Amino acid sequence: MNIIETRDLTKIYQTGLKKGNVVAVDGVTLEVKPGEVFGLLGPNGAGKTTFVKALLGVTSITSGEALINGLPPSDPLSRDKVGFLPENCRFPAHLTGLGLMEFSGRLCGMKESEIDQRSRKLLQLVDMEKWAGTKIRKYSKGMAERVGLAQALISDPDIVFLDEPTDGIDPVGKKEIREVLRRIREQGKTVFLNSHLLSEVEAVADRVAILSRGKLVKTGTVEDLTVRASQYEIEADIKNERIEIPAEIGQRVSITAKGMIVVLNDPESINQIIDELRLRHISIRSVQPMRQTLEQSFFEAVADEPEAEA
Ligand SMILES: Nc1ncnc2c1ncn2[C@@H]1O[C@H](COP(=O)(O)OP(=O)(O)OP(=O)(O)O)[C@@H](O)[C@H]1O
Ligand SMILES: [Mg+2]
Repeated sequence: MNIIETRDLTKIYQTGLKKGNVVAVDGVTLEVKPGEVFGLLGPNGAGKTTFVKALLGVTSITSGEALINGLPPSDPLSRDKVGFLPENCRFPAHLTGLGLMEFSGRLCGMKESEIDQRSRKLLQLVDMEKWAGTKIRKYSKGMAERVGLAQALISDPDIVFLDEPTDGIDPVGKKEIREVLRRIREQGKTVFLNSHLLSEVEAVADRVAILSRGKLVKTGTVEDLTVRASQYEIEADIKNERIEIPAEIGQRVSITAKGMIVVLNDPESINQIIDELRLRHISIRSVQPMRQTLEQSFFEAVADEPEAEA
């Protein structure tokens, strides 16, 4: 069973301006399983925020379907077990961290005793218990974002939507937020994370989708998106041996200090190369698929797409 599901989800903003309508989300089909940390990646203007707004009923859907916990966004019960930290969220600066938690709890219709209990636990979870009584205006951006994460969890939701939770935060603050995301995952919650920061998503997400100009261009585990299936590094005592690879199998890219790098037409052919090396009594220490960073995969995925207007 999927906790989030969309089928051909499309959102067209009617701007009424000369430039016409904006297709912000264009036929997106995706599925998120319970307990997953799912990262939606894409450049500015790709449609990430619109996608989340459509799922949460903040903006209407032009066509296609969306389901959260099996219910469409038009049903308020679909948001019963959902937490949300919007993009660039500014909380009332005169509230304290604890005050914000109480305010959010009341908005969710929770009882005072329940709010009090959960607020303390959550402020601890985000390492903000020491600052619970301090006004938000005195918080750093990282601290405000951590309290924002805590308020998104006040009603003990099954799913939390986080829209760019680390945007504009320094590396130390980002690391702290990553740590909080890990703790949220450990509690078995599903996390839907919007980001244009690839290294962030790479560090925390189980699965990733890349959105470009409203369209999904790639989906998979971080592993799927970073392993080049056909490129291998073979660590072996090749030394001066001449190893020719027939063109129908692939080619040798280079000889390295450790061995050699090969690109194969079919990943299965790696066995033929291993057989050949062993036939010559060459000792093999390891055979590993080569990785590219998520950033390289991202650039490849969006390479054909012209720059979107932000
Ligand atoms: N209310 C709106 N009316 C008209 N167009 C909009 C509206 N909101 C967003 N858009 C347009 O829809 C497209 C997608 O925007 P969206 O904010 O969803 O992208 P994003 O991926 O979240 O970008 P960012 O990384 O900058 O947050 C953009 O072209 C944007 O200009
Ligand atoms: Mg956005």
